[in-house]
Amino acid sequence: MATKVTILPNGPALIAGDLEVIGVDGKPIQLPTPQMAICRCGASKSKPFCDGSHRPAGFKDPTPTA
Ligand code: FES
Repeated sequence: MATKVTILPNGPALIAGDLEVIGVDGKPIQLPTPQMAICRCGASKSKPFCDGSHRPAGFKDPTPTA
């Protein structure tokens, strides 16, 4: 399965496909689904994953430059 990355407006990056996430301890992190949401706002309490904190943080995409 090809890996697909979808940037959600004012939210996380959704990554789906054949995924393996390795933690800072060098061990794989078990994913509950073959899709994950990666935080882009910096407000998540469970980085690198999105926990919905972008909404109360008021995260807005930067203005595209091109
Ligand atoms: S993008 Fe959702 S918590 Fe950061």
